[in-house]
Amino acid sequence: MNRGRQRGTKTLLIAVCLIGCLCLIFALMLNIESASGEFKLLVWLQGIGILAILAGIVAVLRYGRSRIRSLQSELSERTKALRKAEEEYRRLVESAEDFIFTVDRSGRFQSLNSFTANFFGGAPSQFLGRSLSVLFSEEIAAQQLKLIDVVFEFGKSVRDEFVVTTGGHTTWLSANFMPLKNEQGRVTSVLCIARDITENKKLEGQLVNTEKLASIGTLAAGVAHELNNPLGIILGFTDLILEKLDKGSQDYLDLKTIERHSLHCKEVVENLLSFARQEEGVCEYCDINEAINSIINVVRHSLEMKNIELRPDLAPELPKAKGDSRQMQQVFLNLINNAVAAMKDGGILEIKTATGAGRRKVRVTVRDNGDGIREEHLENIFDPFFTTKGEGEGTGLGLFVSHGIVTKYEGTIECQSSAADTPQRPRGTTFTVTLKAVTI
Ligand SMILES: Nc1ncnc2c1ncn2[C@@H]1O[C@H](COP(=O)(O)OP(=O)(O)OP(=O)(O)O)[C@@H](O)[C@H]1O
Ligand SMILES: [Mg+2]
Repeated sequence: MNRGRQRGTKTLLIAVCLIGCLCLIFALMLNIESASGEFKLLVWLQGIGILAILAGIVAVLRYGRSRIRSLQSELSERTKALRKAEEEYRRLVESAEDFIFTVDRSGRFQSLNSFTANFFGGAPSQFLGRSLSVLFSEEIAAQQLKLIDVVFEFGKSVRDEFVVTTGGHTTWLSANFMPLKNEQGRVTSVLCIARDITENKKLEGQLVNTEKLASIGTLAAGVAHELNNPLGIILGFTDLILEKLDKGSQDYLDLKTIERHSLHCKEVVENLLSFARQEEGVCEYCDINEAINSIINVVRHSLEMKNIELRPDLAPELPKAKGDSRQMQQVFLNLINNAVAAMKDGGILEIKTATGAGRRKVRVTVRDNGDGIREEHLENIFDPFFTTKGEGEGTGLGLFVSHGIVTKYEGTIECQSSAADTPQRPRGTTFTVTLKAVTI
């Protein structure tokens, strides 16, 4: 029954009762005024009055019953709406890809969403009532407990960042601890919403790297130019003296050591110079298959000698890619050299070209089944001077320079590697260079 009708019925009931009462009062007055009285009228009025009052009482009872019924249905509707809202709220929390949980003052879980539980490899019910240290390391749990104390103490939110390591993976979390208060305003528990910010952290790192690169570029240009000439002179004179010396003499061997180290210095200088010269890239587009073929011609023999099977798979009708062909050759040569160095006992080297993103990209994949890169090294391989090679074997500039070249042409260079054979991924390394395709 809607509210308008209810109000109408209520007014009608009051009117009926009023009429009944008026009739009775009027009958009473008539009774008092005329003792002889007009008996018939009196009886009628009294009868009408009593009937009206009875009708009123019956109607009140019926109205009451219907009102109770309408209240009951209203209650059940509201309960349904409440349950629906609760379900929606639960679904919202459950479908969130954030870590959401509530804890008491001693850091015991009161509730947590599936995302949190799944991340740590369990179900929410497994962790309820247990302390934070079941999910986080002792150190992180202690840090969180301190924050929870602060929230209980001051009733204000606090924010912090944590590093969580699960199954060898490191995840950065940005967490907000918020107070949940009761009606008296007292904090009863703490709600934590944490978000995975690992990607942001990586980007921050890359940004720092980009700045580092820019300053190294400027520095490299100056230093390399200064060192190049004296190094050339040292090597020239070393060569001259070596020709005059006896091949087996101690002086000859000593000078050979000087020559070896000078050559290493020259290699570093040349790498730095090529990084500094990146600005000079002339050609805007290149034929990637052609660039790879010319490198293959250079390295083919040495690959055979090292028992490395070369498997080129170059896509026909590959569109031209944005980049200078000489510089791109340098990139592929660096990748091939690294692959060769990782396959000391021979192996398979695959070089594949393909188009991507609906022929808007040109993709080059260089894959080896060599030693692979240890996970902790993966984030450093593009850093300048990062090398795992012995002294005199590598400068740690190959990937740094390659990365600089590829990004200059708005391309990307990515690495996937596994240092051990696993069912998901066999041992080895894959570098993927993605360049912008040029349609001309
Ligand atoms: N295909 C690969 N397989 C295994 N490790 C690799 C591979 N490519 C790169 N690496 C690792 O990355 C490191 C950095 O490579 P990068 O080419 O920058 O320097 P480098 O090869 O050590 O020295 P160079 O300046 O002579 O190239 C290497 O020392 C090696 O540990
Ligand atoms: Mg290298």
